[in-house]
Amino acid sequence: MINKAIILAGGMGTRMSPLTKAVNKQLLPIYDKPLIFYPLSILMLAKIKDILIIVNKGQLNQYKKILPDGKRLGINILYKEQSSPKGLPDAFLLGEKFINNKNVALILGDNFFYGQNLTSKLINCTKLKNGAKVILHKVIKPELFGVAKISKTGKIISLKEKPKKYISDLAVTGLYFFDKKVVEYTKKLKPSLRNELEITDLLKIYLNKKKLTSDILGRGGAWLDTGSIEDFYKTSAFVSAIENRQGFKIACLEEIAFNNRWIGKKEILNAIQFYGKCDYSNYLKKLIS
Ligand code: TTP
Repeated sequence: MINKAIILAGGMGTRMSPLTKAVNKQLLPIYDKPLIFYPLSILMLAKIKDILIIVNKGQLNQYKKILPDGKRLGINILYKEQSSPKGLPDAFLLGEKFINNKNVALILGDNFFYGQNLTSKLINCTKLKNGAKVILHKVIKPELFGVAKISKTGKIISLKEKPKKYISDLAVTGLYFFDKKVVEYTKKLKPSLRNELEITDLLKIYLNKKKLTSDILGRGGAWLDTGSIEDFYKTSAFVSAIENRQGFKIACLEEIAFNNRWIGKKEILNAIQFYGKCDYSNYLKKLIS
């Protein structure tokens, strides 16, 4: 079972400079909410309540303004600062105490997931006992991603980071589920040529032990990586189109917490007061009326 998760919300945001010079990427807006709401909502949909958010050194106060400790959402949020981006698996070294020898999920702070049956898929992934599990999604340009080749029965055969020669068009998305061995395995990793610990190297340890499985987010689902300014606008347009057509918000954290019965009307009213007069508050009002 997985009851804990880490959100990696640091990074330099180089591709989005100058926007990211003063503000971290995960606090910038995707349509009507800060980006961090989206990965957090995915963990909440997976019914994970114990969450560690890793942020850049010096940026903690900014995050705490919008997400203090999780109490308002009926969850537990802890923070840890990362001194510099040392690579994705660094999350497991920084989070060793938080992980406390338990299974853990990792989601990248700039990853956006949406789609039918996503919640049941996520809950299924949290049932992982041993090994590691990744979520795959078909992309047009696999050369830009870490990709996985799978067998007819869905087993991962090989993994390659940004393959120059085609091996598969299934990208490994930024949502991973690991057993408690993850800290021990991370400690064995050596930094790559770009001087970072690589998530593909970590996944390969599980692959070599035949302990890496996958689930595919099919064409009914969307996975968008909001690394560039262009991606930010495209993802914002996507959220705006869905929200304004259907009237439902994507990643309204209080709504998810309310539906999970982690909070009640009182907390929603407090949230309305916290956010002030805005469209998000109006949506929360409708939720409890
Ligand atoms: P990246 O896309 O690798 O990095 P970035 O977001 O800083 O962007 P750029 O390449 O433009 O500089 O990281 C993916 C996510 O993981 C992103 O949300 C930042 C986060 N991250 C960390 O928090 N710590 C790290 O050490 C790394 C490598 C990434």
